[in-house]
Amino acid sequence: MYTKHNIIEMLNSQSSDMERLFARGVEVRNSAIGDGVYLRGLIEYSNICSKDCLYCGIRSSNREVERYVLTETQVLDAAKFAYESNYGSVVLQCGEVKSERHITLIEHLVKEMKKLSNGTLGITLSMGEQTLECYQRWFDAGAHRYLLRIESSNRDLYNKIHPNNPQHSYDERIMAIENLRSVGFQVGSGVMIGLPYQSVEDLADDLLWMKRMDIDMCGMGPYLISEGAPFGLESAHLLKSEQWRFETSLKMIAILRILMPKINIAASTALQAINPMGRIKAIECGANIIMPNISPENIRANYNLYNNKPRSFDSKIIEDRVHYGEWGDSSHFNSKKR
Ligand code: 5AD
Repeated sequence: MYTKHNIIEMLNSQSSDMERLFARGVEVRNSAIGDGVYLRGLIEYSNICSKDCLYCGIRSSNREVERYVLTETQVLDAAKFAYESNYGSVVLQCGEVKSERHITLIEHLVKEMKKLSNGTLGITLSMGEQTLECYQRWFDAGAHRYLLRIESSNRDLYNKIHPNNPQHSYDERIMAIENLRSVGFQVGSGVMIGLPYQSVEDLADDLLWMKRMDIDMCGMGPYLISEGAPFGLESAHLLKSEQWRFETSLKMIAILRILMPKINIAASTALQAINPMGRIKAIECGANIIMPNISPENIRANYNLYNNKPRSFDSKIIEDRVHYGEWGDSSHFNSKKR
């Protein structure tokens, strides 16, 4: 078994050791679940958010952002595009909003997306912390996977990157993740890599946290400065180089693959903000999921979680490995069910 010490060693590996780690990530993936890549069309439903996370470009107190909510037609057109392009799945993502009106709207949209695809489109939601009842309603409507990152599993660091108030609570976040599981969702989580004040030891703990939480899916990527967020500006002098954040993110992917061979691991969009080949590189370290953005073009600039967020993805290079028209559920989750 891998100890924290082993993991720290892997996180610090350089040159040929690092390349060997990446190759091992691929090897473990290929023998556990094959080398297939699955797509989820990402629909950025709304950038309205009640939270004020210090690192995030769409935090509620950022007045520079033009706020939007897609219309039902826009969402369903995007879902239709994903269905007709044979993506297999979509992710509907937005800021955290807890109103009954919002909950009902999402419930309706999930049902309509199911309907337009004759029940075939896999639906993942990524809409923050909600009540158990809300999660249950969205699950009953037809969503079956949910993404909710822990951002950092270190409570002190979590508190540093979020405002100090009950709305931003580490314990509530963990509770929400557990509620998602109890409702029956495949649960995805993950962290940001290279946050100021974050140590390599913290990253090793993040990986062990994911293993302990027995997550089914993971999305994690480099922390990137966001103009509209105070955290990046105040702590810029503590920021590791882009190269460090990029390589460490790839190492995190490879190590997580070794620790949890059968989970789904996304090649995060943030990787591509640093390197145009970022997401392909992630696939070559053990990731198996890509989330091409299929939001309407005219709103993409308003969903800037961080600077230089890529607005598109070119999948030609891995085209022959993409499994079209399949959900590509977490085989980790499926093997737990039996
Ligand atoms: N850098 C990197 N990732 C970020 N996210 C939000 N802000 C940033 C940033 N500045 C990520 C968070 C969130 C996901 C939707 O976007 O991890 O969970």
